[in-house]
Amino acid sequence: MTTSSAASLTPFSELKARIDQRQARVAVIGLGYVGLPLALLYTEQGFPVTGFDVDAHKVSTLVQGGSYIFRIPATEIQAAKARRFSATADYSQLREMDAIIICVPTPLDAYHEPDLSYITGTAKAIAPHLRAGHLVVLESTTYPGTTEEVLIPILEQGNLHRLKASRSGATTEAGFFVAFSPEREDPGNQTVARRDIPKVVGGLDEKASQLAAALYGSIFNRVVPVSSPAAAEMTKLLENIYRCVNIALVNELKLLSLRMGLDIWEIVEAAATKPFGFQPFYPGPGLGGHCIPVDPFYLSWKAKEWDFRTRFIELAGEINISMPYHVLESVAKALNQQKKALNGAKVLVLGVAYKKDIDDLRESPSLVIIELLQKEGAQVSYNDPYFPTVGRGRKYDLQMKCAPLDNLGQYDCVLIVTDHSHYDYARIVREAQLVVDTRNATRGIQSPKIVRC
Ligand SMILES: NC(=O)c1ccc[n+]([C@@H]2O[C@H](COP(=O)([O-])OP(=O)(O)OC[C@H]3O[C@@H](n4cnc5c(N)ncnc54)[C@H](O)[C@@H]3O)[C@@H](O)[C@H]2O)c1
Repeated sequence: MTTSSAASLTPFSELKARIDQRQARVAVIGLGYVGLPLALLYTEQGFPVTGFDVDAHKVSTLVQGGSYIFRIPATEIQAAKARRFSATADYSQLREMDAIIICVPTPLDAYHEPDLSYITGTAKAIAPHLRAGHLVVLESTTYPGTTEEVLIPILEQGNLHRLKASRSGATTEAGFFVAFSPEREDPGNQTVARRDIPKVVGGLDEKASQLAAALYGSIFNRVVPVSSPAAAEMTKLLENIYRCVNIALVNELKLLSLRMGLDIWEIVEAAATKPFGFQPFYPGPGLGGHCIPVDPFYLSWKAKEWDFRTRFIELAGEINISMPYHVLESVAKALNQQKKALNGAKVLVLGVAYKKDIDDLRESPSLVIIELLQKEGAQVSYNDPYFPTVGRGRKYDLQMKCAPLDNLGQYDCVLIVTDHSHYDYARIVREAQLVVDTRNATRGIQSPKIVRC
Protein backbone atom coordinates (compact mmCIF):
# COMPACT_ATOMS: atom_id res chain seq x y z
CA MET A 1 0.00 0.00 0.00
CA THR A 2 1.37 3.43 -0.91
CA THR A 3 1.57 6.19 1.69
CA SER A 4 -1.04 8.25 -0.14
CA SER A 5 -3.56 5.38 -0.42
CA ALA A 6 -3.04 4.50 3.27
CA ALA A 7 -3.68 8.13 4.19
CA SER A 8 -6.95 8.18 2.22
CA LEU A 9 -8.32 5.15 4.08
CA THR A 10 -10.93 6.02 6.67
CA PRO A 11 -12.01 3.60 9.42
CA PHE A 12 -15.17 3.09 7.32
CA SER A 13 -13.44 2.28 4.03
CA GLU A 14 -10.86 0.15 5.78
CA LEU A 15 -13.47 -1.99 7.52
CA LYS A 16 -15.61 -2.20 4.38
CA ALA A 17 -12.60 -3.49 2.43
CA ARG A 18 -11.79 -6.04 5.12
CA ILE A 19 -15.39 -7.30 5.10
CA ASP A 20 -15.50 -7.49 1.29
CA GLN A 21 -12.24 -9.47 1.29
CA ARG A 22 -13.57 -11.71 4.10
CA GLN A 23 -10.64 -10.65 6.26
CA ALA A 24 -12.66 -8.84 8.92
CA ARG A 25 -12.19 -10.49 12.31
CA VAL A 26 -15.64 -11.26 13.65
CA ALA A 27 -16.42 -11.46 17.37
CA VAL A 28 -19.65 -13.14 18.42
CA ILE A 29 -20.58 -12.48 22.05
CA GLY A 30 -22.96 -15.05 23.57
CA LEU A 31 -22.47 -18.53 22.10
CA GLY A 32 -25.97 -19.91 22.63
CA TYR A 33 -28.63 -21.09 20.21
CA VAL A 34 -28.22 -17.90 18.16
CA GLY A 35 -24.55 -16.97 18.55
CA LEU A 36 -22.87 -20.31 17.96
CA PRO A 37 -24.58 -21.10 14.60
CA LEU A 38 -23.91 -17.50 13.52
CA ALA A 39 -20.22 -17.83 14.38
CA LEU A 40 -20.08 -21.06 12.37
CA LEU A 41 -21.71 -19.41 9.33
CA TYR A 42 -18.99 -16.72 9.31
CA THR A 43 -16.31 -19.36 9.69
CA GLU A 44 -17.73 -21.27 6.71
CA GLN A 45 -17.36 -18.12 4.61
CA GLY A 46 -13.69 -17.81 5.49
CA PHE A 47 -13.89 -15.09 8.18
CA PRO A 48 -11.65 -15.52 11.23
CA VAL A 49 -14.12 -15.75 14.13
CA THR A 50 -13.72 -15.54 17.89
CA GLY A 51 -16.64 -16.48 20.12
CA PHE A 52 -16.94 -14.91 23.57
CA ASP A 53 -19.01 -16.33 26.42
CA VAL A 54 -19.09 -15.94 30.20
CA ASP A 55 -20.05 -19.61 30.56
CA ALA A 56 -16.70 -21.34 31.18
CA HIS A 57 -18.19 -24.76 30.40
CA LYS A 58 -19.28 -23.62 26.92
CA VAL A 59 -15.92 -22.04 26.18
CA SER A 60 -13.92 -25.10 27.28
CA THR A 61 -16.23 -27.46 25.36
CA LEU A 62 -15.62 -25.47 22.16
CA VAL A 63 -11.90 -25.16 22.83
CA GLN A 64 -11.76 -28.95 23.09
CA GLY A 65 -13.68 -29.32 19.81
CA GLY A 66 -16.96 -30.37 21.40
CA SER A 67 -20.54 -29.12 21.08
CA TYR A 68 -23.33 -28.50 23.61
CA ILE A 69 -26.12 -27.93 21.08
CA PHE A 70 -27.79 -31.13 19.91
CA ARG A 71 -28.16 -30.18 16.25
CA ILE A 72 -24.53 -28.99 15.95
CA PRO A 73 -22.25 -32.05 15.83
CA ALA A 74 -18.77 -31.82 17.37
CA THR A 75 -17.31 -32.46 13.89
CA GLU A 76 -18.70 -29.06 12.80
CA ILE A 77 -16.87 -27.35 15.67
CA GLN A 78 -13.67 -29.18 14.80
CA ALA A 79 -13.98 -28.15 11.13
CA ALA A 80 -14.60 -24.55 12.23
CA LYS A 81 -11.53 -24.62 14.47
CA ALA A 82 -9.46 -25.73 11.48
CA ARG A 83 -10.78 -22.60 9.72
CA ARG A 84 -9.69 -20.17 12.45
CA PHE A 85 -12.63 -20.35 14.88
CA SER A 86 -11.73 -19.96 18.54
CA ALA A 87 -13.62 -19.35 21.79
CA THR A 88 -12.66 -17.37 24.87
CA ALA A 89 -13.98 -15.55 27.93
CA ASP A 90 -11.26 -12.92 27.67
CA TYR A 91 -12.81 -9.65 26.49
CA SER A 92 -9.42 -7.99 26.00
CA GLN A 93 -9.21 -9.94 22.72
CA LEU A 94 -11.97 -7.65 21.39
CA ARG A 95 -9.34 -5.06 20.55
CA GLU A 96 -8.09 -7.28 17.74
CA MET A 97 -11.59 -7.71 16.30
CA ASP A 98 -13.25 -5.65 13.55
CA ALA A 99 -16.93 -6.49 14.02
CA ILE A 100 -18.61 -7.37 17.31
CA ILE A 101 -21.99 -9.10 17.22
CA ILE A 102 -23.93 -9.37 20.49
CA CYS A 103 -26.26 -12.38 20.93
CA VAL A 104 -26.90 -12.44 24.69
CA PRO A 105 -30.22 -13.33 26.37
CA THR A 106 -33.08 -10.85 26.86
CA PRO A 107 -35.45 -12.50 29.34
CA LEU A 108 -38.23 -11.05 31.49
CA ASP A 109 -37.67 -10.47 35.20
CA ALA A 110 -39.83 -11.75 38.04
CA TYR A 111 -42.30 -8.89 37.41
CA HIS A 112 -42.63 -9.75 33.70
CA GLU A 113 -40.57 -6.71 32.75
CA PRO A 114 -37.57 -6.56 30.37
CA ASP A 115 -34.33 -7.74 31.96
CA LEU A 116 -31.62 -5.95 29.99
CA SER A 117 -28.87 -6.88 32.44
CA TYR A 118 -27.16 -9.18 29.91
CA ILE A 119 -27.05 -6.40 27.32
CA THR A 120 -25.82 -3.78 29.77
CA GLY A 121 -23.29 -6.23 31.25
CA THR A 122 -21.96 -7.03 27.80
CA ALA A 123 -21.82 -3.35 26.78
CA LYS A 124 -19.84 -2.52 29.93
CA ALA A 125 -17.45 -5.37 29.19
CA ILE A 126 -16.96 -4.26 25.55
CA ALA A 127 -16.53 -0.52 26.22
CA PRO A 128 -12.94 -0.50 27.59
CA HIS A 129 -11.78 -2.43 24.50
CA LEU A 130 -13.57 -0.31 21.92
CA ARG A 131 -11.48 1.37 19.23
CA ALA A 132 -12.18 3.63 16.27
CA GLY A 133 -13.64 1.73 13.34
CA HIS A 134 -15.23 -1.07 15.35
CA LEU A 135 -18.65 -2.19 14.13
CA VAL A 136 -20.94 -3.25 16.97
CA VAL A 137 -24.20 -5.03 16.09
CA LEU A 138 -26.87 -6.02 18.60
CA GLU A 139 -28.92 -9.11 17.65
CA SER A 140 -30.74 -9.80 20.93
CA THR A 141 -34.49 -9.28 20.65
CA THR A 142 -35.55 -6.17 22.53
CA TYR A 143 -37.84 -3.13 22.56
CA PRO A 144 -37.40 -0.29 20.04
CA GLY A 145 -34.90 2.18 21.43
CA THR A 146 -32.57 -0.24 23.21
CA THR A 147 -29.65 0.22 20.83
CA GLU A 148 -29.76 4.00 20.99
CA GLU A 149 -30.95 4.52 24.57
CA VAL A 150 -29.11 1.70 26.37
CA LEU A 151 -26.27 0.18 24.35
CA ILE A 152 -24.70 3.27 22.75
CA PRO A 153 -24.55 5.44 25.91
CA ILE A 154 -22.68 2.67 27.77
CA LEU A 155 -20.25 2.21 24.89
CA GLU A 156 -19.68 5.97 24.58
CA GLN A 157 -19.22 6.56 28.29
CA GLY A 158 -17.08 3.50 29.00
CA ASN A 159 -14.52 3.61 26.20
CA LEU A 160 -11.05 4.90 26.95
CA HIS A 161 -10.68 7.14 23.88
CA ARG A 162 -13.89 9.20 24.21
CA LEU A 163 -15.09 7.71 20.97
CA LYS A 164 -18.60 8.48 19.77
CA ALA A 165 -20.89 6.33 17.67
CA SER A 166 -20.93 7.45 14.04
CA ARG A 167 -24.11 9.52 13.44
CA SER A 168 -25.50 11.24 10.36
CA GLY A 169 -23.95 14.68 9.94
CA ALA A 170 -21.09 14.07 12.41
CA THR A 171 -17.90 15.87 11.45
CA THR A 172 -15.34 13.47 12.93
CA GLU A 173 -14.38 10.17 11.28
CA ALA A 174 -12.89 8.65 14.43
CA GLY A 175 -15.88 6.89 15.87
CA PHE A 176 -17.35 3.41 15.99
CA PHE A 177 -20.32 2.08 14.03
CA VAL A 178 -23.51 0.63 15.52
CA ALA A 179 -26.44 -1.31 14.08
CA PHE A 180 -29.25 -3.59 15.18
CA SER A 181 -30.05 -6.75 13.24
CA PRO A 182 -32.60 -9.19 14.64
CA GLU A 183 -32.09 -12.93 14.66
CA ARG A 184 -34.82 -14.88 12.84
CA GLU A 185 -33.93 -18.46 13.49
CA ASP A 186 -36.65 -21.12 13.66
CA PRO A 187 -35.13 -23.95 15.73
CA GLY A 188 -35.81 -27.37 14.27
CA ASN A 189 -36.92 -25.97 10.90
CA GLN A 190 -35.22 -28.11 8.25
CA THR A 191 -37.05 -26.60 5.26
CA VAL A 192 -35.40 -23.16 5.06
CA ALA A 193 -31.61 -22.96 4.94
CA ARG A 194 -30.27 -20.39 7.38
CA ARG A 195 -28.69 -18.30 4.62
CA ASP A 196 -32.02 -18.09 2.78
CA ILE A 197 -33.65 -16.23 5.71
CA PRO A 198 -33.49 -12.53 4.78
CA LYS A 199 -31.61 -10.44 7.35
CA VAL A 200 -33.08 -7.11 8.49
CA VAL A 201 -30.46 -4.46 9.30
CA GLY A 202 -30.87 -0.97 10.78
CA GLY A 203 -27.74 1.16 11.24
CA LEU A 204 -27.40 4.27 13.37
CA ASP A 205 -26.24 6.09 10.24
CA GLU A 206 -25.70 5.30 6.58
CA LYS A 207 -22.13 4.10 7.15
CA ALA A 208 -23.14 1.70 9.92
CA SER A 209 -25.98 0.42 7.70
CA GLN A 210 -23.61 -0.17 4.82
CA LEU A 211 -21.06 -1.97 6.98
CA ALA A 212 -23.65 -4.15 8.70
CA ALA A 213 -25.30 -4.91 5.33
CA ALA A 214 -21.91 -5.93 3.90
CA LEU A 215 -21.14 -8.08 6.95
CA TYR A 216 -24.47 -9.93 6.83
CA GLY A 217 -24.51 -9.96 3.02
CA SER A 218 -21.48 -12.26 3.23
CA ILE A 219 -23.48 -15.00 4.93
CA PHE A 220 -27.13 -14.30 4.01
CA ASN A 221 -28.54 -14.25 0.49
CA ARG A 222 -30.66 -11.17 1.12
CA VAL A 223 -30.24 -8.19 3.42
CA VAL A 224 -33.24 -5.94 4.10
CA PRO A 225 -32.10 -2.47 5.17
CA VAL A 226 -34.44 -0.40 7.36
CA SER A 227 -34.10 3.24 8.37
CA SER A 228 -32.86 2.91 11.97
CA PRO A 229 -31.93 0.46 14.74
CA ALA A 230 -35.36 1.11 16.32
CA ALA A 231 -37.14 0.13 13.08
CA ALA A 232 -35.16 -3.13 13.02
CA GLU A 233 -35.95 -3.75 16.72
CA MET A 234 -39.67 -3.16 16.08
CA THR A 235 -39.66 -5.41 12.98
CA LYS A 236 -38.58 -8.39 15.07
CA LEU A 237 -41.26 -7.65 17.68
CA LEU A 238 -43.97 -7.35 15.01
CA GLU A 239 -43.01 -10.81 13.70
CA ASN A 240 -43.19 -12.40 17.13
CA ILE A 241 -46.33 -10.56 18.23
CA TYR A 242 -48.03 -11.68 15.01
CA ARG A 243 -47.29 -15.29 15.97
CA CYS A 244 -48.24 -14.83 19.61
CA VAL A 245 -51.61 -13.23 18.78
CA ASN A 246 -52.50 -15.78 16.09
CA ILE A 247 -51.58 -18.72 18.32
CA ALA A 248 -53.79 -17.24 21.05
CA LEU A 249 -56.63 -16.87 18.56
CA VAL A 250 -56.45 -20.50 17.50
CA ASN A 251 -56.08 -21.62 21.14
CA GLU A 252 -59.26 -19.77 22.02
CA LEU A 253 -61.07 -21.24 19.03
CA LYS A 254 -59.86 -24.68 20.14
CA LEU A 255 -61.54 -24.23 23.52
CA LEU A 256 -64.78 -23.25 21.78
CA SER A 257 -64.48 -26.10 19.26
CA LEU A 258 -64.01 -28.63 22.06
CA ARG A 259 -67.19 -27.37 23.68
CA MET A 260 -69.04 -27.57 20.34
CA GLY A 261 -67.72 -31.05 19.57
CA LEU A 262 -65.65 -29.81 16.61
CA ASP A 263 -62.08 -30.82 15.75
CA ILE A 264 -60.01 -27.61 15.51
CA TRP A 265 -57.12 -29.35 13.74
CA GLU A 266 -59.43 -30.56 10.97
CA ILE A 267 -60.74 -27.01 10.64
CA VAL A 268 -57.29 -25.38 10.52
CA GLU A 269 -56.13 -27.87 7.87
CA ALA A 270 -59.21 -27.17 5.78
CA ALA A 271 -58.80 -23.39 6.11
CA ALA A 272 -55.13 -23.71 5.15
CA THR A 273 -56.15 -24.91 1.68
CA LYS A 274 -57.17 -21.32 0.89
CA PRO A 275 -54.44 -20.16 -1.49
CA PHE A 276 -54.41 -16.56 -0.23
CA GLY A 277 -55.14 -14.53 2.90
CA PHE A 278 -54.79 -17.30 5.46
CA GLN A 279 -51.76 -18.63 7.27
CA PRO A 280 -52.30 -21.62 9.56
CA PHE A 281 -51.39 -21.49 13.24
CA TYR A 282 -51.87 -24.50 15.46
CA PRO A 283 -53.24 -24.79 18.98
CA GLY A 284 -51.14 -26.36 21.72
CA PRO A 285 -50.54 -26.77 25.45
CA GLY A 286 -49.19 -23.23 25.84
CA LEU A 287 -46.38 -21.13 24.46
CA GLY A 288 -42.74 -22.03 24.83
CA GLY A 289 -39.30 -20.95 23.75
CA HIS A 290 -37.24 -17.89 24.39
CA CYS A 291 -39.12 -15.69 21.94
CA ILE A 292 -42.90 -15.87 21.59
CA PRO A 293 -43.83 -15.97 25.31
CA VAL A 294 -41.30 -13.26 26.17
CA ASP A 295 -40.69 -10.72 23.41
CA PRO A 296 -44.19 -9.19 23.10
CA PHE A 297 -43.93 -8.05 26.72
CA TYR A 298 -40.84 -6.03 25.87
CA LEU A 299 -43.08 -3.89 23.69
CA SER A 300 -46.00 -3.66 26.13
CA TRP A 301 -43.54 -2.45 28.78
CA LYS A 302 -42.05 0.17 26.46
CA ALA A 303 -45.50 1.26 25.25
CA LYS A 304 -46.35 2.48 28.77
CA GLU A 305 -43.72 5.18 28.37
CA TRP A 306 -45.93 6.50 25.56
CA ASP A 307 -49.20 6.21 27.57
CA PHE A 308 -50.22 3.33 25.38
CA ARG A 309 -51.71 -0.06 26.20
CA THR A 310 -50.94 -2.92 23.81
CA ARG A 311 -54.26 -4.71 24.27
CA PHE A 312 -53.75 -7.45 21.66
CA ILE A 313 -50.51 -8.50 23.37
CA GLU A 314 -52.11 -8.58 26.80
CA LEU A 315 -55.16 -10.54 25.65
CA ALA A 316 -53.01 -13.02 23.73
CA GLY A 317 -50.78 -13.44 26.77
CA GLU A 318 -53.80 -14.12 28.98
CA ILE A 319 -55.12 -16.84 26.67
CA ASN A 320 -51.77 -18.49 26.02
CA ILE A 321 -50.78 -18.48 29.70
CA SER A 322 -54.07 -20.22 30.58
CA MET A 323 -53.45 -23.18 28.25
CA PRO A 324 -51.43 -25.35 30.70
CA TYR A 325 -54.36 -24.98 33.15
CA HIS A 326 -56.68 -26.23 30.41
CA VAL A 327 -54.40 -29.26 29.97
CA LEU A 328 -54.49 -29.93 33.72
CA GLU A 329 -58.29 -29.81 33.71
CA SER A 330 -58.45 -32.09 30.68
CA VAL A 331 -56.27 -34.72 32.38
CA ALA A 332 -58.39 -34.56 35.54
CA LYS A 333 -61.58 -34.90 33.49
CA ALA A 334 -60.22 -37.79 31.42
CA LEU A 335 -59.20 -39.65 34.60
CA ASN A 336 -62.56 -38.87 36.13
CA GLN A 337 -64.25 -40.59 33.19
CA GLN A 338 -62.36 -43.69 34.25
CA LYS A 339 -63.47 -43.21 37.87
CA LYS A 340 -59.93 -42.18 38.91
CA ALA A 341 -58.71 -39.15 40.81
CA LEU A 342 -55.82 -37.00 39.63
CA ASN A 343 -54.52 -37.08 43.20
CA GLY A 344 -52.29 -40.17 43.32
CA ALA A 345 -52.60 -40.94 39.58
CA LYS A 346 -49.45 -42.00 37.72
CA VAL A 347 -48.97 -39.65 34.76
CA LEU A 348 -46.25 -39.94 32.11
CA VAL A 349 -45.60 -36.64 30.32
CA LEU A 350 -44.22 -37.14 26.81
CA GLY A 351 -41.91 -34.33 25.78
CA VAL A 352 -40.42 -31.55 27.87
CA ALA A 353 -38.81 -29.54 25.03
CA TYR A 354 -40.95 -26.54 24.12
CA LYS A 355 -41.49 -27.86 20.61
CA LYS A 356 -40.92 -31.00 18.61
CA ASP A 357 -37.47 -32.31 17.72
CA ILE A 358 -35.40 -29.69 19.54
CA ASP A 359 -33.28 -29.70 22.70
CA ASP A 360 -34.56 -26.44 24.19
CA LEU A 361 -36.49 -26.33 27.47
CA ARG A 362 -36.88 -22.59 27.83
CA GLU A 363 -40.36 -21.46 28.88
CA SER A 364 -41.62 -24.92 27.95
CA PRO A 365 -45.30 -25.44 28.84
CA SER A 366 -44.37 -29.02 29.88
CA LEU A 367 -42.53 -27.67 32.90
CA VAL A 368 -45.58 -25.72 34.03
CA ILE A 369 -47.88 -28.68 33.39
CA ILE A 370 -45.63 -31.05 35.37
CA GLU A 371 -45.65 -28.65 38.32
CA LEU A 372 -49.43 -28.19 38.13
CA LEU A 373 -49.96 -31.97 38.05
CA GLN A 374 -47.61 -32.46 41.01
CA LYS A 375 -49.45 -29.80 43.01
CA GLU A 376 -52.65 -31.80 42.53
CA GLY A 377 -50.94 -34.90 43.94
CA ALA A 378 -50.22 -36.75 40.68
CA GLN A 379 -47.10 -38.94 40.52
CA VAL A 380 -45.46 -37.49 37.44
CA SER A 381 -42.75 -39.03 35.25
CA TYR A 382 -41.52 -37.73 31.92
CA ASN A 383 -39.85 -39.00 28.79
CA ASP A 384 -37.93 -36.89 26.29
CA PRO A 385 -35.17 -38.23 24.02
CA TYR A 386 -33.42 -34.83 24.20
CA PHE A 387 -33.32 -34.56 28.00
CA PRO A 388 -31.94 -37.42 30.14
CA THR A 389 -32.58 -35.25 33.21
CA VAL A 390 -34.46 -32.07 34.08
CA GLY A 391 -32.96 -30.18 36.99
CA ARG A 392 -33.40 -26.60 37.97
CA GLY A 393 -34.10 -23.52 35.88
CA ARG A 394 -35.02 -19.93 36.59
CA LYS A 395 -38.67 -20.81 37.18
CA TYR A 396 -38.70 -24.51 38.02
CA ASP A 397 -36.92 -27.05 40.15
CA LEU A 398 -37.96 -30.54 39.08
CA GLN A 399 -34.93 -32.82 39.60
CA MET A 400 -36.39 -35.59 37.44
CA LYS A 401 -34.87 -38.35 35.32
CA CYS A 402 -36.17 -39.42 31.91
CA ALA A 403 -38.34 -42.54 32.33
CA PRO A 404 -37.93 -45.32 29.75
CA LEU A 405 -40.70 -45.68 27.19
CA ASP A 406 -41.61 -49.20 28.24
CA ASN A 407 -44.32 -50.68 30.41
CA LEU A 408 -46.65 -47.81 29.48
CA GLY A 409 -49.61 -49.74 30.93
CA GLN A 410 -48.34 -48.88 34.45
CA TYR A 411 -49.42 -45.23 33.99
CA ASP A 412 -52.98 -44.08 34.57
CA CYS A 413 -52.43 -41.50 31.86
CA VAL A 414 -49.88 -40.78 29.14
CA LEU A 415 -49.96 -37.05 28.37
CA ILE A 416 -48.52 -35.92 25.03
CA VAL A 417 -47.17 -32.39 25.45
CA THR A 418 -44.40 -32.31 22.81
CA ASP A 419 -44.99 -34.26 19.61
CA HIS A 420 -41.42 -35.39 18.89
CA SER A 421 -41.20 -37.27 15.58
CA HIS A 422 -39.23 -40.00 17.33
CA TYR A 423 -42.32 -41.36 19.15
CA ASP A 424 -44.32 -44.31 17.80
CA TYR A 425 -47.78 -42.95 18.58
CA ALA A 426 -49.66 -46.08 17.44
CA ARG A 427 -47.63 -48.15 19.91
CA ILE A 428 -48.13 -45.60 22.67
CA VAL A 429 -51.91 -45.70 22.21
CA ARG A 430 -51.88 -49.51 22.05
CA GLU A 431 -49.94 -49.91 25.30
CA ALA A 432 -51.29 -47.02 27.40
CA GLN A 433 -54.46 -47.10 29.48
CA LEU A 434 -55.36 -43.50 28.58
CA VAL A 435 -53.73 -40.95 26.24
CA VAL A 436 -54.37 -37.22 26.55
CA ASP A 437 -53.08 -35.54 23.40
CA THR A 438 -52.46 -31.77 23.38
CA ARG A 439 -50.85 -31.68 19.89
CA ASN A 440 -53.01 -33.90 17.70
CA ALA A 441 -49.98 -36.21 17.53
CA THR A 442 -52.35 -39.21 17.39
CA ARG A 443 -54.13 -37.94 14.26
CA GLY A 444 -55.43 -40.82 12.19
CA ILE A 445 -55.44 -43.24 15.12
CA GLN A 446 -58.90 -44.29 16.26
CA SER A 447 -59.19 -45.43 19.87
CA PRO A 448 -61.53 -44.75 22.79
CA LYS A 449 -58.38 -44.35 24.93
CA ILE A 450 -57.47 -41.04 23.22
CA VAL A 451 -58.68 -37.71 24.57
CA ARG A 452 -57.63 -34.74 22.41
CA CYS A 453 -57.51 -31.46 24.27
N1 LIG B 1 -33.09 -19.17 20.28
C1 LIG B 1 -33.78 -18.66 19.31
O1 LIG B 1 -34.37 -19.39 18.54
C2 LIG B 1 -33.85 -17.15 19.06
C3 LIG B 1 -34.45 -16.72 17.87
C4 LIG B 1 -34.49 -15.36 17.60
C5 LIG B 1 -33.96 -14.44 18.52
N2 LIG B 1 -33.39 -14.89 19.68
C6 LIG B 1 -32.83 -13.89 20.57
O2 LIG B 1 -31.40 -13.98 20.53
C7 LIG B 1 -30.85 -13.67 21.83
C8 LIG B 1 -29.98 -14.83 22.31
O3 LIG B 1 -30.80 -15.98 22.42
P1 LIG B 1 -30.22 -17.45 22.55
O4 LIG B 1 -31.36 -18.36 22.31
O5 LIG B 1 -28.99 -17.63 21.74
O6 LIG B 1 -29.80 -17.44 24.10
P2 LIG B 1 -28.88 -18.53 24.87
O7 LIG B 1 -29.25 -18.44 26.30
O8 LIG B 1 -28.94 -19.84 24.16
O9 LIG B 1 -27.41 -17.97 24.66
C9 LIG B 1 -26.95 -16.78 25.20
C10 LIG B 1 -25.49 -16.95 25.56
O10 LIG B 1 -25.00 -15.69 26.02
C11 LIG B 1 -24.08 -15.95 27.07
N3 LIG B 1 -23.89 -14.72 27.83
C12 LIG B 1 -24.70 -14.15 28.75
N4 LIG B 1 -24.15 -13.00 29.20
C13 LIG B 1 -22.97 -12.85 28.55
C14 LIG B 1 -21.95 -11.87 28.58
N5 LIG B 1 -22.02 -10.80 29.36
N6 LIG B 1 -20.88 -12.04 27.77
C15 LIG B 1 -20.77 -13.14 26.97
N7 LIG B 1 -21.71 -14.09 26.91
C16 LIG B 1 -22.79 -13.96 27.68
C17 LIG B 1 -24.71 -17.10 27.83
O11 LIG B 1 -23.75 -17.78 28.62
C18 LIG B 1 -25.23 -17.96 26.66
O12 LIG B 1 -24.26 -18.89 26.22
C19 LIG B 1 -32.03 -13.39 22.73
O13 LIG B 1 -32.28 -12.01 22.75
C20 LIG B 1 -33.19 -14.07 22.02
O14 LIG B 1 -34.43 -13.46 22.30
C21 LIG B 1 -33.31 -16.23 19.96
